[in-house]
Amino acid sequence: RDGLTVLGLETSCDETAASVVRLSAAGAQVLSSVIHSQIDDHAAYGGVVPEIAARSHVEMIDGVTRRAMSEAGLDWSGLDGVAATAGPGLVGGVMVGLSYGKAAALARGLPLIAVNHLEGHAVSARLGAETTYPFLLLLVSGGHCQLLEVRGIGDMSRLGTTIDDAAGEAFDKIAKALGLGYPGGPALEKLAAQSRENGGDGSRFELPRALLGRKDCDFSFSGLKTAASRLAQTCETEQDRADLADAVQKAIARQLAERSERAMKAYAEAHEHRLFVVAGGVAANKTIRRTLEDLATKHGFAFLAPPMAYCTDNAAMIALAGAERLEKGLTSDIDVAARPRWPL
Ligand code: KG4
Ligand code: ZN
Repeated sequence: RDGLTVLGLETSCDETAASVVRLSAAGAQVLSSVIHSQIDDHAAYGGVVPEIAARSHVEMIDGVTRRAMSEAGLDWSGLDGVAATAGPGLVGGVMVGLSYGKAAALARGLPLIAVNHLEGHAVSARLGAETTYPFLLLLVSGGHCQLLEVRGIGDMSRLGTTIDDAAGEAFDKIAKALGLGYPGGPALEKLAAQSRENGGDGSRFELPRALLGRKDCDFSFSGLKTAASRLAQTCETEQDRADLADAVQKAIARQLAERSERAMKAYAEAHEHRLFVVAGGVAANKTIRRTLEDLATKHGFAFLAPPMAYCTDNAAMIALAGAERLEKGLTSDIDVAARPRWPL
């Protein structure tokens, strides 16, 4: 049979997801990608409640997986392996997908591949375009903000990380202070667009710039989060709130660009093949995508971001990381543990 066909399972946060991906000489092909979002279950609490998330994964995982299999037009004999997120994340949820994956692998005699959720995000851009390693990666999600040199699956090194909050966390917390719902990133992006449509000006809000004196590629968003949350209390009109949202989005984009620029300069010294990839939920933000694409072009890097559907959490990226691992013989023991923390 041509290539490897892998079922991926993702349950590390608030989406129950299953997907079938085929990896062959022609690249990655998504045969199905099913996502059940729990946003409605958590909305009333303004964030993800781990206990509710784990219970919902238990209820949904079998149905979501069966749908992914049937949409791919496969029965279990068409699979070469089962991949499941084994961390990092909310461990009660991780255990649901990982245990289900173990049961499926055991019952069907298939290899099990435990996948690091961050490694899934790291390969996600390969779902939309044929991409060769190595590349420079900015991974920006709700829980992580890192710059990585990616040489291949399971072979990456970190150039910088956040010393406090992740960029997505800053979006979510500031959105909450502005009275927007969860998740805050997309809501804040919408509000910021309103500012521009009405000719607003976010520059009247002064926001702190973090770690200005440092020469490394680390990030910090807690100062921005605190300052913007305080400014949100002073907003009187809808236009004030929209202008502040615009200022926040620009400040986050600017910090991401500044650190990425440092990383690009260092990376370019050691690499002929220059590709810059941005992935993770925050990569769905159009202002941020555009800012980073311009920056990449300026520094002679090709630019790639995953298709929108694969920026936020999904199982196709887990299936692909699983297939790439399987191709290298990197499978897991059946007693592999779920890990709440698991740095790349
Ligand atoms: O990758 P992801 O789905 O989950 C994690 O692994 O964390 O990322 C979720 C994060 C949330 O913080 C969400 O607010 C943010 O990504 N996000 C956005 C946008 N869409 C999602 N942030 C800014 N603009 C967006 N359009
Ligand atoms: Zn994620």
